[in-house]
Amino acid sequence: MLSSLLSEYSSVLEGPWAEADTVLTRWSSDWPRGHANARIVEEYLLGRAMGLLDVSGRPVVAGPASGAPAPVSPPTAVLGDPEGGLVLAAVLTGAPSVAVAGDSAAATAACREAVEVLPATLRDAVRFCDSPAEAVAALAEAPSRTVGEGGEAPGLRVIIDSPKQFAVLREYLRVVGRQASEVVVVGREKHMSPRMNRLLGETHADVHVSPGRAKSRILVASGLKKRAADSSAGSAGRSPQVPAQATATSPAEAVPEIRVSAFAGTFGGASVDPGARLLVRAVAHRYAGHAGEGMRVLDLGCGNGWLLAALGALLPKANLHGVDDSQAAVDSTALTVASVRPGEDPAALAQLDGTTPLPWRTSSGGSRGTAPRDFVAGSFDLVTLNPPFHEGATVTTETAHALIRNAAELVAPGGRLVVVHNSHLRYRSHLQHRLIDVEQWARDRRFTVLTGTAPAA
Ligand SMILES: C[S@@+](CC[C@H](N)C(=O)[O-])C[C@H]1O[C@@H](n2cnc3c(N)ncnc32)[C@H](O)[C@@H]1O
Repeated sequence: MLSSLLSEYSSVLEGPWAEADTVLTRWSSDWPRGHANARIVEEYLLGRAMGLLDVSGRPVVAGPASGAPAPVSPPTAVLGDPEGGLVLAAVLTGAPSVAVAGDSAAATAACREAVEVLPATLRDAVRFCDSPAEAVAALAEAPSRTVGEGGEAPGLRVIIDSPKQFAVLREYLRVVGRQASEVVVVGREKHMSPRMNRLLGETHADVHVSPGRAKSRILVASGLKKRAADSSAGSAGRSPQVPAQATATSPAEAVPEIRVSAFAGTFGGASVDPGARLLVRAVAHRYAGHAGEGMRVLDLGCGNGWLLAALGALLPKANLHGVDDSQAAVDSTALTVASVRPGEDPAALAQLDGTTPLPWRTSSGGSRGTAPRDFVAGSFDLVTLNPPFHEGATVTTETAHALIRNAAELVAPGGRLVVVHNSHLRYRSHLQHRLIDVEQWARDRRFTVLTGTAPAA
């Protein structure tokens, strides 16, 4: 394992490298230690921009200035950056324009915050886009920055933070792969697999694996295949994504079988979370015969939408609302809920980071054309929450605690919060903090369903 892709060149690079690192240290006091993926990308891009590294991230054998085409920093799309380090690395190593897109509201907010540390002159190079397709389109006319004389056709570089779900990488490549002269996928070694190389090989002739650095590695696909490039003029990147679908069996008498849809990246795909099933059974038992007339119902972290659709079937007159950090989840929920309430405006949905303090206001959704929506404390009669337990490969309760706090605040006086969680976690005190009459509604080997009501105003 190398300590740096650029060990051989640290003296040559002192100036530009130190300049980039000064900004990155302003961004995170933990730089570079806590950001192995962004660090290897910074080194790779810098090495390429200076003509010191070849496309595989290895030293150029004959040295930098030996008649090879002048290095080019191409316009760059950054997809799925979780915290902003990849965006900063791209800008600070010379990309003349950078378009950013991803699925998570929290990650986009982190990237926006990261960009604030850039000098004003570089900040203008960054654009935030609603989707990978929009990011690539935004760069279509962007100039490249050629270092030195001559230069090769710049093309477009796409940098992807290796997604948790393989289906997300496949989707990114379906949409943008055919327009990218170079695709750089960065990830932790233990999460990368030869399947990824094969996928990259479908559109590009050469797939390189960089040396590893601090347990991160990059895959670089170059040499766009002619057939793939030609077909990019067709529908591949524009055609809508087809969601995975499955039929979920009924968990309780009042809930029918539900056709669940899940776009790539949606938590759990199209399968039903067993904790959500336990929660729905408990709600079905308590709300039997209740039509939900005028009730405002919210599922916070709505995932593939099965839970919200089941609540819609249980409470056919209720107004349904769903919020998720992931746009894929929000889009999936729209389809899943529509399958139980066809022909109506079935649910008010929003992509939001539910851990941020209330009130929440969604912006009008750019190319998605959604209207702004407000979420204020005390505005729902029933809030359900099945919080995430893992973030990537890490077990965390921090997000769940923040979601519980906001979920409880969103409950109207006299209204109810219902939470399901892994039984070994201790969430009761978090509910008791804001709610009264906190009790356990159900429990099985793995999950516990807790509920509480908001005190009357
Ligand atoms: C365990 S799933 C629950 C999905 C669905 N409610 C169910 O019960 O089947 C948790 C969901 O929370 C979402 N989530 C994670 N962090 C979030 C955040 N900060 N704000 C909003 N939603 C979040 C995830 O994207 C995921 O869809």
